[in-house]
Amino acid sequence: MTDDISSSGEKRPALIPATPPGIQRAAELLRAGRLVAFPTETVYGLGGDATDDRAVAAIFAAKGRPQFNPLIAHLPDLATAQRWAIFDDRAYELAQQFWPGPLTMVLPRPANSALSLLVSAGLDSVAIRVPGHPLAQALLKAAGTPIAAPSANRSGAVSPTTPHHVLESLGERVDGIVTGGKCQVGLESTVIDLTGPEPVILRPGAVLPEEMERLIGKIRVSAGDPTAPKAPGQLESHYAPSASVRLNAPSAEADEAFLTFGPDRFVFGGSTRLNLSLQSDLNEAAANLFSHLRQLDQSGAPRIAVMPIPDEGLGVAINDRLRRAAAPRP
Ligand code: TXA
Ligand code: MG
Repeated sequence: MTDDISSSGEKRPALIPATPPGIQRAAELLRAGRLVAFPTETVYGLGGDATDDRAVAAIFAAKGRPQFNPLIAHLPDLATAQRWAIFDDRAYELAQQFWPGPLTMVLPRPANSALSLLVSAGLDSVAIRVPGHPLAQALLKAAGTPIAAPSANRSGAVSPTTPHHVLESLGERVDGIVTGGKCQVGLESTVIDLTGPEPVILRPGAVLPEEMERLIGKIRVSAGDPTAPKAPGQLESHYAPSASVRLNAPSAEADEAFLTFGPDRFVFGGSTRLNLSLQSDLNEAAANLFSHLRQLDQSGAPRIAVMPIPDEGLGVAINDRLRRAAAPRP
C-alpha cells in the first residue's frame, strides 16, 4: 500500500471522527482503494471497495488469512443490493423483514457482475448484507460502491467491537478507522445460504432460524463448527476450472494454457498466457488470480500450467487456492 496518509503528516491508521466530514473522508479513502475499518451493529468491519480487486486483495493481506474465504458485500439498502445479487421471493421477504440488520444472505451473482471475483473467492454466489448501524449506513451511502468487509481483526483473533480493538489487532495494516464507539450486537451476522432449494444457515447470529422460518418455511442449520462456517475444509464447492491444473511448472507444453508470475519473457511454452504480476507483486497476483484462472479456462485448453508462486504473504493463500484447483476431482 502507498503512504499518502503518512506523507500528509498524519499517523497511520488515521483515526477518523464519526462526523459528516469524517464519513466523507472515509468514503474518499475507500473510493481510492484504501482500507477503512468502520462500525456495524455486529462488529467492526475491515472495509475495501468490493469492485476493486487490489483493495480486496489488500483486505486478505491485512488480515493475514491463509485462505481466500469469501467476503460479505455491504450495501446501504435493498434497492441497491438488488443490483449486485439475484433476489428470489424468499430473499426479498427476508430483506423486507430483517434489513437493515444483522442478516447476511448468500445469493447468486449476476453474470458479468462488476464485483471482484476475489470477494466471492471464485464462487458463483455473493454474500450480501445491509447493516443497520447509522455510521455504516452513512459510509455506504457516501462511498457509493459495495464495501467488502470481514471482521476487522487479524486472522484467528477475536472480532473487534471497539475502535481500540481494531487498532490493537490491525495497527498500521489499515488506512483509517472510523471511531464510532462500541458495537451493540458484538457477534457477527447470521449467514443464510439461499442459492439452493433448501435455505441453509451457514453461521448462527442474532437473527434466529425460527424468526425466518415464519416467512420462508423450513431452514436447515448447517452442521460443523458454527464459529468457522465454510472454513478451510469446507471449501470444496469452490469454483474449479474445467481444465486440469499443473502446479510449479517452470515451462508449459504447447497445448497448455500458462498462468505465469514475475518476468516471463524467457519462459517457454503455453497456448495462451496470462501473467499474475510481472513485478512479482503478490497483492497484484491475488487480485488477478480468479479472473485469470477463468479466462484461461475459457480459452479451451485442456490443461493449465502454473508457474511457481512464492509461499509467503498472500502467496500462501494463492498457493492454497491453486492446490485446491489442482487436486484430483471426485
Ligand atoms: O457481522 C458481520 O457479518 C461482519 C460485519 C463486518 O458485517 N462481517 C463478517 O465477515 O463477519 P466475515 O468475512 O468474517 O464472515 C463472512 C462469512 C464467512 O463465514 C464466509 O464463509 C461467509 O460469510 N460467506 C461469504 N460469502 C459467501 C459465499 N459466497 N458463500 C458461502 N459463504 C459465504
Ligand atoms: Mg471474522
